[in-house]
Amino acid sequence: DTNAIETRILPADAAGITQAAATFARGGLVAFPTETVYGLGADAANAAAIARLYQAKGRPAFNPLIAHVANIAAARRIGRFDATAERLADAFWPGPLTLVVPQAPGCTVADLATAGLDTVAIRIPSHPIARALLAAFGGAVVAPSANISGHVSPTTAAHVAADLRGRIDLILDGGPVEVGVESTIVGCFEQPTLLRPGGVPSEAIETMLDRPLTRPAPAEPEASEQPLAPGMLASHYAPRARVRLDASEVAPGEALLAFGPLTLPGAAQAVAVLNLSPSGDPAEAAMHLFGYLRSLDAKGARSIAVMPIPNDGLGEAINDRLRRAAAPR
Ligand code: TXA
Ligand code: MG
Repeated sequence: DTNAIETRILPADAAGITQAAATFARGGLVAFPTETVYGLGADAANAAAIARLYQAKGRPAFNPLIAHVANIAAARRIGRFDATAERLADAFWPGPLTLVVPQAPGCTVADLATAGLDTVAIRIPSHPIARALLAAFGGAVVAPSANISGHVSPTTAAHVAADLRGRIDLILDGGPVEVGVESTIVGCFEQPTLLRPGGVPSEAIETMLDRPLTRPAPAEPEASEQPLAPGMLASHYAPRARVRLDASEVAPGEALLAFGPLTLPGAAQAVAVLNLSPSGDPAEAAMHLFGYLRSLDAKGARSIAVMPIPNDGLGEAINDRLRRAAAPR
């Protein structure tokens, strides 16, 4: 690619964070670790930088971005928090929760980043490197997952480099992330709505609010032009290999993505086996999910059989991502 730009990869130490903040300030693109997945950041107020971000990812412009901020005061400058939003922010920030709220008057997030909606998605990450970077930069940073659009989200700096080297200015390497699936997204509408299951289990949110979250009907692949969370298209998070869910056996030529004790017929003959969590822990499985999908792809698996994973805790987010990976494309 003759248009390739040089992508620097720096350790996420004080010098790296200073470089990254300066790169945002001049309109550049920086990938950095958050507790959920690596994000690809740009200055939320800089429309030209955001245009480059959409281009680097190959992301459709109708799909809005999450604004990351350092603290609740910064969040209130861009979004309007009703009582429910305040309670959620208080209980789960900093952490893997994104709140969709009406934009505050004078919200400085570029229209391109909110795809022309009158709402804005906001999150205060808990990862120390993300927090240090937001503090050093001083403004809001929009950051989708740092992968090519439609591909599996990155949980290491090497995953980011594999997708985006030559397309972005800088990658801050802060090691593997802890949660492994993206933030939970709650729409603070008339009825608080679960727009995407993620790093905060929906049960924890429902317990805190003492009411169930509304869940939008699952998007029909054809009807996905104006979904509530426009990024939640059916075919997303896709490895190259075909993904077959709820496998009760391994077919000849298949790789196996296991969960819990390995008792599946045919498992010994699998092309490759990776176990998300031998002990059956959904949090451990979430941490491994995207990396293992990438590894099985790299081993050349044509089809991946996936064992059933219970839907509680982080299992809901895992099963959501796996359904999208398995959707026809
Ligand atoms: O954990 C995460 O949330 C990661 C890290 C980097 O923070 N980010 C992330 O961003 O997953 P992305 O762009 O891959 O997913 C953002 C989702 C999309 O599904 C998008 O449609 C939705 O948030 N979204 C953004 N703004 C929205 C809005 N105003 N209303 C509804 N959905 C919105
Ligand atoms: Mg993404």
